[in-house]
Amino acid sequence: MFVFKAAVVGAGTMGGEIAQVVATAGIPVVLKDVKQEFVDQGLAKARDVTQGQLAGLVAKEKITQEDADRQLEEIAGRITGTLEYEGFGDVDFVIEAVPEQIQIKRAVFAELDAVTPGHAILASNTSSLSVTEMGEATTRPDKVCGFHFFYPASVMRLIEVIEAEDTSEETVQAAASFAQAIRKTAIRCGEVPGFVVNRILNSSVSEVWRVVEEDGLDPLEVDKVIKESGTVPMGPFFLTDLLGLDTVLHVAEHLRDSYGDRFFVSSQMKELVKAGNLGQKTGKGFYEHGG
Ligand SMILES: NC(=O)c1ccc[n+]([C@@H]2O[C@H](COP(=O)([O-])OP(=O)(O)OC[C@H]3O[C@@H](n4cnc5c(N)ncnc54)[C@H](O)[C@@H]3O)[C@@H](O)[C@H]2O)c1
Repeated sequence: MFVFKAAVVGAGTMGGEIAQVVATAGIPVVLKDVKQEFVDQGLAKARDVTQGQLAGLVAKEKITQEDADRQLEEIAGRITGTLEYEGFGDVDFVIEAVPEQIQIKRAVFAELDAVTPGHAILASNTSSLSVTEMGEATTRPDKVCGFHFFYPASVMRLIEVIEAEDTSEETVQAAASFAQAIRKTAIRCGEVPGFVVNRILNSSVSEVWRVVEEDGLDPLEVDKVIKESGTVPMGPFFLTDLLGLDTVLHVAEHLRDSYGDRFFVSSQMKELVKAGNLGQKTGKGFYEHGG
């Protein structure tokens, strides 16, 4: 199946950049959120990321500034923001990127089922929830799959294509082809807790959370030491702030509930989430984020 037009639902930490990736591959995309300010933030993010990428090409003398200016308008022009499901009537592939809560996701999938053409694939960017349950909220569970990007979506190459209980082989193949069309590398996974990447990542990060809590260490100091080791570009607490503490907490709890105490849930993170400090997106998490 060829994707002539796509849609992204949710213009938050992930959605704006996912729309940017699709538009950069030459495919028109509709970006929906529930408030105009969130749609605007998603569109601005997509534009900024594109501008940054094009500036890099100009600096390397791969394209001229004139080319960059033209391409920026072309790419940004392929993304249309909406608060309703306007423009969803002729999409071929939808990526849902709303908050990690099953009731919100199921409501969105039921709405998508009503507003998109019958052939359209409905995919979720969920990090841990049941894609099967999302499919059950539709009349086309065979056309529902997971399509899991990594942060930041404009940079990270991998997409996990998740095969839920009812996902058809045709859907998995079409999703993998779409991943290629938007210049990503797809791996195919079963619907298991943490899929592949979060299961591996959390098994090591869990140990950092555990030692910080058990030994009363300062997370910022631990981040500094880990960063200075040169093994990773940033410490796990800073990364958590960028990803969103609510999302990371949800994944951590899901892994602990699924695999037991070898996965750790940080109570410090729980306290921050309870207080509404979700990291960069709210201005405060383990760090203060100004500007
Ligand atoms: N943050 C990450 O690093 C990351 C990485 C991979 C996958 N994910 C997954 O992507 C999804 C989104 O995560 P995020 O970090 O972008 O969340 P986020 O909270 O930053 O953004 C979610 C957006 O969805 C919007 N929204 C809520 N209800 C909606 C509705 N009914 N229709 C349209 N928009 C709606 C919100 O207003 C918000 O702008 C989650 O399932 C998460 O697990 C996140």
